[in-house]
Amino acid sequence: MKDKTSSQTQDVIAVLDFGSQYTQVIARRIRECNVYSKIYPFNTKASVLKKQGVKGVILSGGPSSVLTKGSPRPDAKVFELGVPVLGICYGIQLMAHMLGGGSVAKSPQREFGHGTLKIGKKSPLFEGLPKTLNVWNSHGDRIDTLPKGFSPIAATENSSFAAIEDRKRGFYGLQFHPEVAHSELGIELLRNFLCKICGAEANWSMSEYIERKVEEIRETVGKDRVILGLSGGVDSSVAAALIHRAIGKQLTCVFVDNGLCRLHEREQVEKLYGDHFDLDLRVARKSALFLKKLKGVSDPERKRKIIGRTFVEVFDDVVTKLKKKGNYRFLAQGTLYPDVIESVAIDGNPAALIKSHHNVGGLPKKMKLDLLEPLRELFKDEVRALGSELGLPKEVVWRQPFPGPGLGVRMLGALNKPGLDVLRKADAILHEEMMASDLYYKVWQSFCVFLPVKTVGVMGDERTYENVIALRIVESVDAMTADWARVPNEVLRTISNRIINEVSGVNRVVLDISSKPPSTIEWE
Ligand code: XMP
Repeated sequence: MKDKTSSQTQDVIAVLDFGSQYTQVIARRIRECNVYSKIYPFNTKASVLKKQGVKGVILSGGPSSVLTKGSPRPDAKVFELGVPVLGICYGIQLMAHMLGGGSVAKSPQREFGHGTLKIGKKSPLFEGLPKTLNVWNSHGDRIDTLPKGFSPIAATENSSFAAIEDRKRGFYGLQFHPEVAHSELGIELLRNFLCKICGAEANWSMSEYIERKVEEIRETVGKDRVILGLSGGVDSSVAAALIHRAIGKQLTCVFVDNGLCRLHEREQVEKLYGDHFDLDLRVARKSALFLKKLKGVSDPERKRKIIGRTFVEVFDDVVTKLKKKGNYRFLAQGTLYPDVIESVAIDGNPAALIKSHHNVGGLPKKMKLDLLEPLRELFKDEVRALGSELGLPKEVVWRQPFPGPGLGVRMLGALNKPGLDVLRKADAILHEEMMASDLYYKVWQSFCVFLPVKTVGVMGDERTYENVIALRIVESVDAMTADWARVPNEVLRTISNRIINEVSGVNRVVLDISSKPPSTIEWE
């Protein structure tokens, strides 16, 4: 049977969530195999899965031990659905514990980290894979006896039951995590399960995902209205474009001009979203208010706090006014999966903790709005693919990260409009030159920092005493660590010449050659 909620019928794989931090990674890998999957709470009734017509079931890992009383169990009838089942980590323990004849015991030694998997028996799960694979483990219990009908198909140093199968019933179990990047060819192993064992068709695509999400958003929102704080960054832009596709003018986007934006940023947002996408866009021009509140403040933490607080005030004000005029019920946010610190669905109620999202943390509660987070299960690169599919331009989809407090953390010391204008002009030149030299999309971030010091220079016959601009250009994969990018000297020379010649108030440009750690990316 197929899922018919979308115009295209699709095979569905159910992932039962036992609270693993990797459940979403499993779903992501399944999407990478172009198969559609749905995550269900661990205790979902087998009848629900049957009604959905799932082609296969994956039991995720989880933090519990099957030996602990009250630890989560799937509906036993899941094993009677007549579809293949793959148990991963906690999932394999469940199979050993619940299917007759097997047993699980506390292992004297936790198996954690790398292991070498030796494939001992031919199995459809390992089709096309080499005989030895590096895999990644994380488990405490071990299987002592296999349930009836099962046999081992692969072993690691510490476990002779690292992979097991009951081929007749289509039941497979893996002691390691094939979904994590450290497990070599893990995705191929999952693909074998999905396509060869379950016989699922690999016809999932991003455009199909959009269709499905659009229907879901329409259903959730009904005739109500949605507010979204549009920052112009990738996440809020993609969320806006997706929700707009679903409900058009029922979505109102609010862009707060806090005076800490880049050159022409407000105009660009107005042009793209207001004109091109014909979105209901409200712009709150509040730069004077922000700068007034920030006057004389040079401590970075205080600056951040004031910026965050003022944003909430302004946003709250806009929302209160909007609510008087229309039935606004939702606050949309571009929260991505990595923003969701922990997704524990153990009680069947995924109670996720959200990282305090810069600027908007606490907003929905204060404003009595429900949250709408259509990107919650996606990873950054998937959000970019989604944005492209929705027609957002490359400059938005692939734009470099920009901090919530904007230029507030890039103009050091107390903020003032003339200094910010200098910074904006210098930064625009850097941006232009990074684009022109084809480096903008190759580095992680490239920006200017305004230093609150003046140095002596000479221009013509005149002695000058002006500000310093630092160039921060870094390479990184996740912003946790970073290194300064080796930009060709000629490009640096052009950037420096142009900034000093074209931006009055700057007579010196320096290059930051520090890595993170020990430095950070932003200077603050
Ligand atoms: P640091 O400076 O800590 O920055 O190395 C790591 C990454 O985070 C960005 N950043 C922020 N992003 N709100 C944000 O949304 C913020 O307050 C903020 N502060 C830093 C920074 O640009 C880099 O990509």
